[in-house]
Amino acid sequence: MLNARAAVLFCRTGAQYATATAATGVVQGSSRCLHTFPQTRPEEGPPAVGLGLELPHLKRTGCIYLDYNATTPIFPEVAAEMAPFLFEHFGNPSSGHTYGRVCKAALDTARGRVAQLLGASDPLEVHFTSCGTESDNWAIYGAVMAARMAQLRLQPQLQPVGPPPHVVTSAVEHPAVLVHLKHLQDQGLLTYTAVPVDGEGLVDPDQAAAAVQPNTALVTIMHSNNEVGAVQPIAKIAAAVRQAHARAIAAAGGDAQGAATGALLVHSDAAQSTGKVELDVEALGVDALTIVGHKFGAPKGVAALYIRRGVTLPNYFHGGGQEAGRRAGTENIMQVVGLGAAAVVARQEGPQLRKHIGEMAERLLGAVRAEMRAEDQDKLWVNGPRDPARRLPNTLSLSIRGLNSALALQRLSTQLAASAGAACHSADGASVSAVLRAMKIPLEFAKGTLRLSTGRHTTAQDVDRAAKLIVEEARRQDILG
Ligand SMILES: Cc1ncc(COP(=O)(O)O)c(C=O)c1O
Repeated sequence: MLNARAAVLFCRTGAQYATATAATGVVQGSSRCLHTFPQTRPEEGPPAVGLGLELPHLKRTGCIYLDYNATTPIFPEVAAEMAPFLFEHFGNPSSGHTYGRVCKAALDTARGRVAQLLGASDPLEVHFTSCGTESDNWAIYGAVMAARMAQLRLQPQLQPVGPPPHVVTSAVEHPAVLVHLKHLQDQGLLTYTAVPVDGEGLVDPDQAAAAVQPNTALVTIMHSNNEVGAVQPIAKIAAAVRQAHARAIAAAGGDAQGAATGALLVHSDAAQSTGKVELDVEALGVDALTIVGHKFGAPKGVAALYIRRGVTLPNYFHGGGQEAGRRAGTENIMQVVGLGAAAVVARQEGPQLRKHIGEMAERLLGAVRAEMRAEDQDKLWVNGPRDPARRLPNTLSLSIRGLNSALALQRLSTQLAASAGAACHSADGASVSAVLRAMKIPLEFAKGTLRLSTGRHTTAQDVDRAAKLIVEEARRQDILG
């Protein structure tokens, strides 16, 4: 159980640190306080921990934070668990001595916690990485290399025959997927098909299945979208593409001259889903899944790739034997401990957290509407699925017709932290967010889009004030009366 008091770290002198122990989170302190976490000041005491409680360092800025999809603050309990690994436990987990063993134990604990959060059957299915981008890149590169190697094995001359492996993805993926696919396609290593989405940002499983070819090695479709919060029907997609692949191979007469390797992997980028919706790798039927620490209360620079036991996914990093020989590089223990602690918070708070962030997003929308005159209501559009069960509860992608959202965010930047998604502001709309373009959102709405995302520490006052600021800015731009 994590403990609120552990959020303040006391220290005596030199190496005599009082530590917040990983197991209990209890602080064993001294009378002289030399270090406090940056998020708290001595006079403020430890930050209040829990849902809906404002963090002192967020309050101090005077800038309302509604950009939880970009990143979250490190949760106080998470920081407390990490602290001993900053100040005290520095060993290399691959070392056999005491220093190493402490870190190896922490690594194992974190792996178990993440596995439990994802419903993985074996902690060794969890591989720690440096970021979501690395996890996504690894899944793609690994699946394509596995298919290429299978083709080579079929050829006595080790000359690959047949087309390069094919990948199915969606038009609304994060650049960590789409840019990497394009890069590998430009090198002749794969071809890919990006299936379209409907006006709500959702992929149709039948369309994904229709894109599958005998040589399709990977289907990678995100679990939820970072801009509009659409939660994709991954379980249905996984089932549909596997059936389509089996049919395509049979129709191609077995292995289609080496083009079909028989192995189709399904990967999903769940960077935005952790803590916000239920995630269970068994129910989803995926072979690989990406999660990202800084989207749910852990620090930036740590993520994980779940790889189902028995799945062949060649390494992306080569070198030492870390991560059971699958991802070389000395583990970033402090960050990994943070990821494990955040997984505990996500699991313990699960339903209450989802309720809180959903209520805050609802309240925000209601408050914006309430600030607007009745005759202006048709200028407001909410992007993403209508059905609450098909979207992230915290994500509110609002479009106000005619608004210059880039200008609005710039003018409000010291009072309100939000984002325009990936929207830019060119006159022709060519650089409007690719997600909104794929959803065919009319240009005058797309250019006026604000992505507001609530989180664990969002308060009712935050969203009420944010609504006022947004409507005031739209009036300043002569968009609303
Ligand atoms: C859906 C999605 N995938 C991948 C990433 C990349 O994560 P990272 O910045 O840790 O590489 C993000 C980050 O915004 C994301 O939202």
